[in-house]
Amino acid sequence: MAEVIVLDSPEDAGRFVAAHIAAQVRREPTFTLGVATGSTPLPVYEALRAESAAGTDFSRMTAFALDEYVGLPAGHVESYRSVVDREVTEPLGLDAARVHVPDGSLDGIETAGERYEAALDAHGGVDLQLLGIGRTGHLGFNEPGSSFGSLTRVKTLTERTRIDNARFFDSLDDVPIHCVTQGLGTILRARHLVLLAFGAGKAEALAAAVEGPVSASMPGSAIQLHQRVTVVIDREAAASLEYRDYYRWAQDHKPQWQGI
Ligand code: F6R
Repeated sequence: MAEVIVLDSPEDAGRFVAAHIAAQVRREPTFTLGVATGSTPLPVYEALRAESAAGTDFSRMTAFALDEYVGLPAGHVESYRSVVDREVTEPLGLDAARVHVPDGSLDGIETAGERYEAALDAHGGVDLQLLGIGRTGHLGFNEPGSSFGSLTRVKTLTERTRIDNARFFDSLDDVPIHCVTQGLGTILRARHLVLLAFGAGKAEALAAAVEGPVSASMPGSAIQLHQRVTVVIDREAAASLEYRDYYRWAQDHKPQWQGI
């Protein structure tokens, strides 16, 4: 079962997760972080910048992004390549050659998935994968119906997801219809999954992912198949969890030697 940690705010969650990542990086400077985009991981990236300012050296870390839109012009400010560069690569001083994002350019899109899988395999996979969850229950952009064995490939976004992500674009029409996303099978290979969710809008999907039936209709439920999952959420996102009192109890009685 996933460990569920409920904190007071996204900022507290960001500091908590960033402190864990920074400690791993100090122990193993070539640590590999799986980065998510969207709004949810931003407090983690902000807190990682504070860890960097306080002296943790992230320059030897490798990063792999979860997904990318298909067909945005190179350098588009909302491409996930641009977001990762802006939020992670540049402020943390990573070597750009060690920051990987699926290639969403139309030229060669047919092989984008297998090229990304090959890069992940050649590197040896991801140590800690940050995840957000969409209101459809997607992890990465694995919309409902995605196979739990799926690898990186082109997927079609649901209208729900396009509407939710329209806030980053001038209009809904500007939101791409297709993406390249790590598959659920790819995500499940990461050695540690850290799923973040904040706000009441995520409560239903989060509860279904953590406590509901394991089903392709709820891609987030794939986390139940992984041996090491930490779910870090705020009170609003925790609102629909049936066992939240138990999660609190478990946190209050957690053995001191146990990390996350
Ligand atoms: C982004 C990603 C998505 C988002 C999800 C939630 O790389 O893979 O799964 O995590 O759409 O988006 P936000 O965080 O904007 O609510």
